[in-house]
Amino acid sequence: MKATVGTFVFALLAMGVFGTAGAEQSGGTNVGEELPPNVRVLLIQEMQAILKASEQIQTAIVQGDHETVAQKAQAIHDSFIMEQQMTEADKQALLAVVPEAFLERDQALHDLSEELAEAGRDQDTTRQLQQFSEMIQGCVGCHSRHATARFPGLSTSQP
Ligand code: HEC
Repeated sequence: MKATVGTFVFALLAMGVFGTAGAEQSGGTNVGEELPPNVRVLLIQEMQAILKASEQIQTAIVQGDHETVAQKAQAIHDSFIMEQQMTEADKQALLAVVPEAFLERDQALHDLSEELAEAGRDQDTTRQLQQFSEMIQGCVGCHSRHATARFPGLSTSQP
């Protein structure tokens, strides 16, 4: 099972490690390039994993494959591989760089993926569509504020 940065940072928050995060900047930040290279690699791996899971969820929703929706959304929600791969120093390095707004968006993804998993288990296609759409808006929302160097096409979008 693959992990998500959402789960990872959420876990840090739950542990009370948060508090050293860098100050939020009104114009957003480019988190990736400020991270130490090894931590950035972990973030990118997580992003690629959640992209793949999102694609699988879309495929499953349109075919009424509720079980796959539930499984893949749950995988986004509750795996911890990234955390396991990170040293304490890595975690501190990440928290020193990311603004609070980034953590909030990250936690929103965490919450939404859980709701989507629930909609999958309930075999409720209407809710799956709503939660999936909100989750994708969450991807764009974070990228347009914290990853515009990586995604220049989103630099003028503020969904
Ligand atoms: C809390 C913020 C945040 C959220 C939410 C978020 N991302 Fe990202 N994502 C980033 C950042 C920051 C980068 C850029 C990393 C870099 O520049 O190294 C990124 C990069 C990526 C990449 C590029 C990885 C690569 O190969 O370089 C993909 C794909 C991606 N995200 C997919 C997603 C998807 C799909 C979602 C929603 C399900 C999502 N992201 C939600 C912050 C976020």
